[in-house]
Amino acid sequence: MNYKSVVVTRRGGLDALQIVENDLRPPAEGEARVRILATPVCQDDVAIRVGNRPFLKKPPFTPGYAFIGVVAAIGEQVTNVAVGDRVAALTQFGSHAEHIYWQAEKLVQVPESLDMAEAVTLILNYLVAYQILHRVAKVRSGDKVLIVGASGGVGTAFLQLGQLAGLKMYGLASPSKHPLLAEYGATPIDYRTQDFVQVLRQAEPDGLDYVFNGMGEEYYGRGLAVLRRGGVLVHYGAPQSFARFVLLVLKLLFYNLWPNGKKIEGYGTHRLGVDLFKEDWQKLFELLEEGQIKPLVVQKFSILEAVKAYEMLESGQVAGNLVLLAPELL
Ligand SMILES: NC(=O)c1ccc[n+]([C@@H]2O[C@H](COP(=O)([O-])OP(=O)(O)OC[C@H]3O[C@@H](n4cnc5c(N)ncnc54)[C@H](OP(=O)(O)O)[C@@H]3O)[C@@H](O)[C@H]2O)c1
Repeated sequence: MNYKSVVVTRRGGLDALQIVENDLRPPAEGEARVRILATPVCQDDVAIRVGNRPFLKKPPFTPGYAFIGVVAAIGEQVTNVAVGDRVAALTQFGSHAEHIYWQAEKLVQVPESLDMAEAVTLILNYLVAYQILHRVAKVRSGDKVLIVGASGGVGTAFLQLGQLAGLKMYGLASPSKHPLLAEYGATPIDYRTQDFVQVLRQAEPDGLDYVFNGMGEEYYGRGLAVLRRGGVLVHYGAPQSFARFVLLVLKLLFYNLWPNGKKIEGYGTHRLGVDLFKEDWQKLFELLEEGQIKPLVVQKFSILEAVKAYEMLESGQVAGNLVLLAPELL
């Protein structure tokens, strides 16, 4: 039997993507084969394909950062999941396919009652926002925060979780997306035409508690400028090249040694480990089940239509999440 996957055949644009047919093999020891039901399309899938990252995987490879699926087969020594279980994982690569082989111990069980398109946004975008808010910053109700990139997949997760945590939020976004930010109770600022430092100094003369920055190191200086003493900028955007990575490390050292009572902390999903993912996904599944969060899924595509989803994401018009689904869920 065969299955199909989306493959990045070389660095480049959408024409570097191909649908490739692969043979199904029995899972190896400790491995499960999962039939994918839902997988998100995110900015990192694009960056890795076009080459905007300092450390890159060599093509050919299948992109796809996360998935929810059904266990179709298990290898020897697998005891934590069984055939038919609904499971999820954070993968970084490989999820844009009909099937994936994955280490069983890294899979988490997913409640079947959840809408799969909504639930799969929790595996990456909501996890990032949740861990930054509650594990790195440890926000408290009433804290004042700025979200850089507030209209994107991670940005809208920040808005919903921030609203739930009782934060006073400001968000940078393009004007067409300002009504969305306002819906979540955030004050929008147009980063292209407004000087956000000036706007925030007027609105919050005592300074903000946190800045959450999913963009580059170009936001360090201005981000720190709007913080109060003791405030923290949490950086989670990946650098676009090796040179930008070096610049980021140098700026991080410089700003953290500068005696202004403010600091920059870095966050990456690789830092906290799978046990904390599992704990936080459990919490996020509960929030979704209770209706306390409602991920914004803008459009759904079939897994093999990934190119259309990438095209839409790369247009810059998307506010929220794009999700690829197995045909029976469309
Ligand atoms: N560290 C981690 O583990 C981790 C995990 C996931 C994502 N990330 C990072 O998080 C970032 C967002 O990812 P995503 O998937 O949410 O992307 P996305 O859905 O494409 O959203 C990105 C947002 O960034 C905004 N933007 C673009 N250029 C900007 C600029 N110069 N200044 C301010 N905002 C700008 C856009 O806003 P407008 O359209 O409103 O202009 C867009 O809504 C990416 O850099 C990604 O690498 C990191």
